[in-house]
Amino acid sequence: MSDMSVICLKDYKKCGFEVESCELYFELFEEFVIVTNTMEINKLDAQEKHIKLDSQELELLEVYLNDLKLNDTRYDIQEESFTVYNVPNSFSLKIKNKLYPQNNTELEGLYKSGSIFCTQNEPEGFRRITPYLDRPDIMSVFTTTIVADKERYPVLLGNGNKQSSHDLADGRHEVTWFDPHPKPSYLFAIVAGDLGVISDEFITASQTKVELNIYCDKGAESKCFFAMKSLKDAMIWDEQKYGREYDLDVYNIVAVDSFNMGAMENKGLNIFNSHYVLADEDKATDADFMGIQSVIAHEYFHNWTGNRITCCDWFELTLKEGLTVFRDQCFSADLNSQEVQRIEDVKGLRERQFVEDASPMAHPIQPDSYISINNFYTSTVYEKGAEVIRMLHTLLGESRFREAMDLYFKTFDGRAVRTGDFLWAMSEVDKEKRVDFTQFKRWYHQSGTPILEVKDSFCDGVYTLDLKQVVPNKVDEIKQEPFYFPLKVGLIGSDGKEIKEEMLVVSKEEESFVFEGLEAKPYLSINRGFSAPIIIKQEKNEYAFLMKHDKDSFVKYESAQSFALETTEKLMESAELDAEFLNSFGYVLDLDVELSYKALLLELPSISSLMQRQKVVDFTPIYKAKERLEREIATEFKEKLLDIYRLHHKPKNKELDTVSVGERALKNRALRLLSSLESREVIDLAYKQYQESLTMTDRVVALDVLENITSHEGGLALDDFYERYKDDTLVMNKYFSIIAASQREGVLLRVIASQDDEVYDKRVPNLVRSLVGVFAKNYKYFHAADGSGYAFVADKIIEIDKINAQMASGLASAFKIYNRLNQNNKNLIKKELECVISTHSLSKNTYEIISKILK
Ligand code: PHE
Ligand code: ZN
Repeated sequence: MSDMSVICLKDYKKCGFEVESCELYFELFEEFVIVTNTMEINKLDAQEKHIKLDSQELELLEVYLNDLKLNDTRYDIQEESFTVYNVPNSFSLKIKNKLYPQNNTELEGLYKSGSIFCTQNEPEGFRRITPYLDRPDIMSVFTTTIVADKERYPVLLGNGNKQSSHDLADGRHEVTWFDPHPKPSYLFAIVAGDLGVISDEFITASQTKVELNIYCDKGAESKCFFAMKSLKDAMIWDEQKYGREYDLDVYNIVAVDSFNMGAMENKGLNIFNSHYVLADEDKATDADFMGIQSVIAHEYFHNWTGNRITCCDWFELTLKEGLTVFRDQCFSADLNSQEVQRIEDVKGLRERQFVEDASPMAHPIQPDSYISINNFYTSTVYEKGAEVIRMLHTLLGESRFREAMDLYFKTFDGRAVRTGDFLWAMSEVDKEKRVDFTQFKRWYHQSGTPILEVKDSFCDGVYTLDLKQVVPNKVDEIKQEPFYFPLKVGLIGSDGKEIKEEMLVVSKEEESFVFEGLEAKPYLSINRGFSAPIIIKQEKNEYAFLMKHDKDSFVKYESAQSFALETTEKLMESAELDAEFLNSFGYVLDLDVELSYKALLLELPSISSLMQRQKVVDFTPIYKAKERLEREIATEFKEKLLDIYRLHHKPKNKELDTVSVGERALKNRALRLLSSLESREVIDLAYKQYQESLTMTDRVVALDVLENITSHEGGLALDDFYERYKDDTLVMNKYFSIIAASQREGVLLRVIASQDDEVYDKRVPNLVRSLVGVFAKNYKYFHAADGSGYAFVADKIIEIDKINAQMASGLASAFKIYNRLNQNNKNLIKKELECVISTHSLSKNTYEIISKILK
């Protein structure tokens, strides 16, 4: 069994050594790889006698200290470490070891994606390549030489700039890369393969030319242009918005099919899940394009927030991730639509992070302990982390925030720092001392989503807002203190005119704000722009009014959502449908606003958002009520929805501009609503759309609609889709997802059968996520009352854990709502999870997740 010990924030100790430089020599062969690692090391703490390096599953060949070969009494290799005894103050340590990348299914360290050699070292993959002080506060200068067969691996890439390359005997060649910027080992990368490439260049603000390359499988080059455009957009944006320029001669991106996450910001050599690089209109949806734009930008922005300034230890992960997500969200908003971007970001936060924060896996954005750091690449660290940065931006204002960022870059460039250092920079620019940073810091150490209870009253021209913060306890029942946050509110007159907007700062458990000189009680628009990541509870809600009159695009959306949530909840008690809701919905149908935004206004609440409001969750009444609401709306507004569909359905339009994307979003929303009628008319529309539309957006929506209605055409479309795209795994992910998410009967059997499909491969994370991961979010069948859904996913966790622990623990987190479920479902889950946790040699990743859920 691997080591299940808990690592704690408070136990941080500075390392007693530094690595001045690291020279790596990789000899790549088909059956194995030889790594020679030469480090120049200095002792910082004279007390240290021995040096203990991190090392995992390594086969050691030779060790040299200052060029003298050591015999094995001078060192010791263990499961997770490698120690050299009695080292001098300054020394050179050379270690030669052997790796088997073709057997590496964890996809950490050096591994093979198809025939491409590539690496993934964040957070602790480097120790699977060579023994090292594998922690982010050890920053060193790396030189990398790669030697491989030239025909099989014509492209050899490393971090930094290319220094030299030459041919060797036996058809082999050698390339050396040098990265002048000191960096932690988690940013190290190499790639070797026979790759296609598209190239471009970028001239920085200070007139330096940067070569840009995007590498991919041969034949996929034409699908890289959107990614290239996004990269250049990101480079300009970071110069204009933050004054940050790129700092090497070349920026390389490589797309690989087997990748645990989205992408990785290795210095000058980003490695991407091909899902976030490759796209054309025929094979990628509008959402896929948006994903590429934001992930390309995210990784690029890491060059300053993450690479130049990195984290002191992994407890500081949100320092780089929260900040970089905030930056990529702002970038996407600037390039597309501010209002749609904000709503999408909040939707994502609530679907993922709020659920996590209400579960036994809740943790602060700066966790205080972990068993496996791999489990902390969470939506809390990323998305809530970004919300915390956004609050600082709101509190300080745009120009002060920029000033603070400049100071942060200037002060900490080239160092590994803490969120405390970031907050120091923020507080330095707050000359008027407007922000209480001491209290604000609680966002870093407390978990859970605060609830704000709002009451209001009006008397003699004075409007009073009474606020009460309900701060959830920690998972272990430890009491937490009130938060400090900006709360943007608007007051609106009964004529619909805006009276005023103000940014309140909320800091106490209970406090009141008064607004004087009003003629009548105003309507309240609260948490405009979602200025704080909290839950608002109001006694009385004016959804219909706000849907009509609020000028804040977020609150308008929020009102539509909340109204639909409450209406669905009423339907769960099988009451009559609220006529006012239908009126408001009809009002939105006629609204003349940006089309993507309108599509969001017309979206009904997800099962997840309905589930989050239940004390004891039972999914059956939830999705029954939702299905009924959809049907009622479709019946009432059938003609209007059909009109919208006909007006905006332009099957030959493949453009990606805002209007075209908006038209697709809106008419597909109409089609989805209409599909609840399950009528012949809808089947014909969807089938026609499937056949005639040129975009993947339209095709998958039509396919999904057909999949969820029993019809002859549904089968035809699905078979057609398979035949058309079976050679393209990225598209096949969509195929498997549609099956796994289906609401029709017999889904589990089809998911089980899909595993035998020749396209499916359980070693490819994208495919596992598309099939098993999506199934585990299919509330109807994952939570089936006979326990079949749970049993299947639990089996998969055990199976995948042996292949890829990170994938397995990701699947395991599907069970995190365990404690909220009704007793029957709880019992079923408990039985399965107890079986998983008693599995022989379970990974610490999976162990950590399941033990927290069962606690
Ligand atoms: N650092 C990557 C990012 O957010 C995420 C990542 C983490 C990728 C761990 C791979 C492994 O950009
Ligand atoms: Zn990141």
